[in-house]
Amino acid sequence: MDKLYKLIDKLEREQTLKVEEYEAIINGKTAQLLEYVKTKADAVRQKVYGNEVFIRGLIEVSNYCLNDCYYCGIRKSNRNCERYSLGKSEILECCKEGYALGFRTFVLQGGEGVLKIDLICDTVREIKRQYPDCAVTLSLGEYSCDEYKKMREAGADRYLLRHETADSAHYEKLHPKLMSFDNRIRCLNDLKRLGFQVGCGFMVGSPYQTAKTLAKDLKFIEEFSPDMCGVGPYITHKDTPFSTHPSGTLEDTLFLLSLIRLIKPNILLPSTTALGTIDKEGREKGILHGANVVMPNLSPKSVRKKYELYNGKISTDLESAGHIEELKNKMESIGFKIVTSRGDIKKI
Ligand code: 5AD
Repeated sequence: MDKLYKLIDKLEREQTLKVEEYEAIINGKTAQLLEYVKTKADAVRQKVYGNEVFIRGLIEVSNYCLNDCYYCGIRKSNRNCERYSLGKSEILECCKEGYALGFRTFVLQGGEGVLKIDLICDTVREIKRQYPDCAVTLSLGEYSCDEYKKMREAGADRYLLRHETADSAHYEKLHPKLMSFDNRIRCLNDLKRLGFQVGCGFMVGSPYQTAKTLAKDLKFIEEFSPDMCGVGPYITHKDTPFSTHPSGTLEDTLFLLSLIRLIKPNILLPSTTALGTIDKEGREKGILHGANVVMPNLSPKSVRKKYELYNGKISTDLESAGHIEELKNKMESIGFKIVTSRGDIKKI
């Protein structure tokens, strides 16, 4: 399968392939091909970001959610999910703790579409007032263009909204009728136009995913050219309609991380909590395969267990900011250095 190695070389050179070529690579994955892509992705990341890993303080602001995604543990109709919302002062308390630990980006993530726009904007303004040297990332789901504009004017720098899948028929299999693929894409385009640094992303191994839908995801990333991309394995949650679907694998996720690094050399690519959940060293492996961001959890201990998107989500030890020293040591042991800076995308 010499052809596949040549395609990877071409991707590295030109940062673009045809959808069918992406599909052939995904279908042709072997341990050797993974090793080949990893080495290239590692070199590309090294060239752009050196051995620096950016950290983001993740604050899970609320697990109420308007949506009912078939894969997600905090979906609206999960009655077993005990709901909470943090207030402005609790969020600021998390930022205070995070700032002292060296975080210069705060990510406010929550169930989709439930936080009131005024609360969001007030909180963002206050964070930016108290910590003008920090970036604020929002990850709160779909809003109107006007509402995104208000968030931007309040000072939010970045927005994460996973597209979930770039294939509209696949999107419909993962979500109820009320949710629309077109609106998801509309949101991403609005966010970009408003000047946010924008992140999209998807799960690896989600139900009904195929090599073709993944190839479309890669083409979408190539064309949309996001600043960030969140990619982690799908992990089964028992209280969802997909409770019998198996989780995605470590190898598939690593393979896709490496390919994404080749498509967009300067992308901010997190080694996700989900990756750390399916494998004890998943997060380190993610970094070694081309990722350059980790997002430890700064949420108050009392709510951490309640933000359960999938079963088994790591919520103690390394996953809490209190253990940042341990994270530093882990990264050092694989030759990387955690840095205290906003960690904006590097223009190349
Ligand atoms: N497994 C892995 N990731 C999930 N997400 C939601 N549910 C799961 C799950 N069961 C991801 C979605 C969402 C992000 C916040 O978490 O991609 O956009």
